[in-house]
Amino acid sequence: MRRPMTRPMTRIAVELALVAVLAAPLGALLATIGPGSARAQEDAVEAGEELFLTGCVSCHGPGGVGTDQGPTLIGVGAAAADFMLRTGRMPLAVPGQQPPRKEPAYGDEDITYLVAYVASLGPGPEIPDVDPERGDMAMGGELYRENCAACHQAAGSGGALSYGRHAPSLHEATATEIAEAPRIGPGQMPVFGPEVISDSDLDSLALYVLQLDDPADPGGLSLGRIGPVAEGFVAILIGLGTLIVVARWVTRTRRQRLTEASEPRP
Ligand code: HEC
Ligand code: HEC
Repeated sequence: MRRPMTRPMTRIAVELALVAVLAAPLGALLATIGPGSARAQEDAVEAGEELFLTGCVSCHGPGGVGTDQGPTLIGVGAAAADFMLRTGRMPLAVPGQQPPRKEPAYGDEDITYLVAYVASLGPGPEIPDVDPERGDMAMGGELYRENCAACHQAAGSGGALSYGRHAPSLHEATATEIAEAPRIGPGQMPVFGPEVISDSDLDSLALYVLQLDDPADPGGLSLGRIGPVAEGFVAILIGLGTLIVVARWVTRTRRQRLTEASEPRP
């Protein structure tokens, strides 16, 4: 009678232990996605609203409804807010001017709060989950030449557009900003939705554009990458110049030796 009793007892003990081991991480997981994180999200939105009321409301209006100084922010999404704040475009200093890229006015944490607040105003594009390491360089080059080079130039150095506006250089943009810009279409830039540039295309595009900052120069000096014509021209100038100097030096030393030789010896 004794042995059959202990077996189920130990089995129950083992099962209980297993349940305890499994329940611990499950509980932790539930805590992060449960009411705890909803509360953290609410706190972030609240902190963001406070910052909004001091730094943004004068142009974007209460609740982000817009004024004659700034557009509505309802439905622009986390991506637009994150892009505008991380590239330092917002808060705008001079209304009416194309917002330039500058040092961000807010720290990381405050940006997270402001982004949470703007995102809470209405559904819009989320911050893309981009990873250049998942991208394909050749694919990125193709996408870039097809969709971006017309305005940002082949080397990403930027260029003039109509009405005194310009497409900025892409050399300072981070991977996330490179992925956000097509999704939100800032200023004169068009929106490229996922039907034109898919999420995995964004990985390739980011990989390619980041590489434009520091392309491995395939032979020769880069000379600011102004092109092979300029490089050839500089080569001719330097080459000819050197030849002339050498030729003059050779003839001068020869002439010197000749005059020395022809001088009467004392
Ligand atoms: C002096 C006025 C002004 C202030 C202050 C200002 N903005 Fe703006 N904001 C603008 C204008 C004007 C635009 C449109 C810029 C453009 O399209 O070239 C804009 C655009 C935006 C956009 C993009 C909207 C879209 O349609 O994609 C976001 C997001 C934004 N602002 C957020 C903010 C936040 C957050 C703050 C506060 C930290 C702020 N702005 C402060 C004037 C302002
Ligand atoms: C019609 C011209 C045009 C095209 C096409 C275009 N852009 Fe832009 N882009 C702009 C303009 C204009 C801005 C500046 C917007 C503003 O703030 O006023 C910009 C800004 C950007 C920025 C922000 C750069 C920074 O450092 O602040 C990035 C990144 C960017 N574009 C990436 C792209 C990518 C990637 C493509 C192709 C998928 C693309 N753009 C296609 C005109 C264009």
